[in-house]
Amino acid sequence: MLKLKFIGNDETVYDLEVSPGSSVMENAVRNSVPGIEAECGGACACATCHVYVDPDWMAKVGEPEPMEEDMLDFAIDVRANSRLSCQIEMRDELDGLTVRIPERQG
Ligand code: FES
Repeated sequence: MLKLKFIGNDETVYDLEVSPGSSVMENAVRNSVPGIEAECGGACACATCHVYVDPDWMAKVGEPEPMEEDMLDFAIDVRANSRLSCQIEMRDELDGLTVRIPERQG
C-alpha cells in the first residue's frame, strides 16, 4: 500500500492508504474526500477532479499529457502545479504524495 494525502481547501487533512495502479481521483471518491467531483468518472473529459500537486512532488508526478493539458483549460484557477487527479496513477515512486483540493471545481 502507498500513502496519499489530500489537503482540503479548509486545511482538513485526509491521509489514505491506497493501492498501486489506482488513480488519485479514484481514491478521493472511494474515501469520500470532499471537493473532487470527477463527473466523467476518470475519462479526462470534465476537469472536475482538479488538484494542486504539492511543489515537492511536482518532478516525480511529471507533466500532464496533451489531452489533459487541453482539459485543464476548463478548470478554475489553474496554476503551474495543477493536474487532473484521474490522470495521476499511484506507483511506488509516489508513496507519500500530497495534493491540495481547490476551492471549487467549476
Ligand atoms: Fe473527469 Fe478527471 S474525472 S477529468
